[in-house]
Amino acid sequence: MTVRLPGETDGEFTIRRVERVDLFAVVSIENTSFTQPWPYDAFERFLGEPGFLVAESDGRIAGYVVADVTSSFGQQLGHVKDIAVHPGLRGKGVGSALLSRALAILTAHGADSVKLEVRRSNEDAKRLYRQFGFEPLRLVPGYYQDDEDAIVMIRKLE
Ligand SMILES: CC(C)(COP(=O)(O)OP(=O)(O)OC[C@H]1O[C@@H](n2cnc3c(N)ncnc32)[C@H](O)[C@@H]1OP(=O)(O)O)[C@@H](O)C(=O)NCCC(=O)NCCS
Repeated sequence: MTVRLPGETDGEFTIRRVERVDLFAVVSIENTSFTQPWPYDAFERFLGEPGFLVAESDGRIAGYVVADVTSSFGQQLGHVKDIAVHPGLRGKGVGSALLSRALAILTAHGADSVKLEVRRSNEDAKRLYRQFGFEPLRLVPGYYQDDEDAIVMIRKLE
């Protein structure tokens, strides 16, 4: 069961947990944002995860983030798995608000650090992550299906 968090507002956007009814809007943004989009059922699996969040404005889904925490070698590692904002709503702080809330949730769930993968060519996303204190850890050659390299970025959480 999805527990709805009380909506919290960042600027004019409300950031809240994803509900099933939001999934089509999430998939639609995913499809316009990525050449190898996640399918519907990949998002469905994260329903109820505290780090699966949407930004909503006037009943419209503006963007989403998928993040979770896993145990690795005795450490709690946060992972930002996916983040995207509707193409017409980028550059207005939605991505920053989503990332900020996701990092707070990962911290609250005991994550010591957080990692993510980003395409080597994705300058907008890399700039966003650098602003949030992420630093490149390593390159993974040919990580994506089209053979583009990924940069793994990481930051500590307090
Ligand atoms: C990456 C993404 C989520 C950022 O969301 P956003 O709502 O546009 O981001 P914000 O408005 O909060 O901007 C945050 C920072 O990101 C960077 N940024 C975002 N859009 C940018 C753009 N079009 N040009 C340059 N920098 C940009 C800037 O550093 C910006 O900070 P600033 O406003 O102080 O300059 C969004 O561009 C997106 O959905 N891209 C396609 C999907 C994607 O690549 N996801 C990341 C996968 S790893």
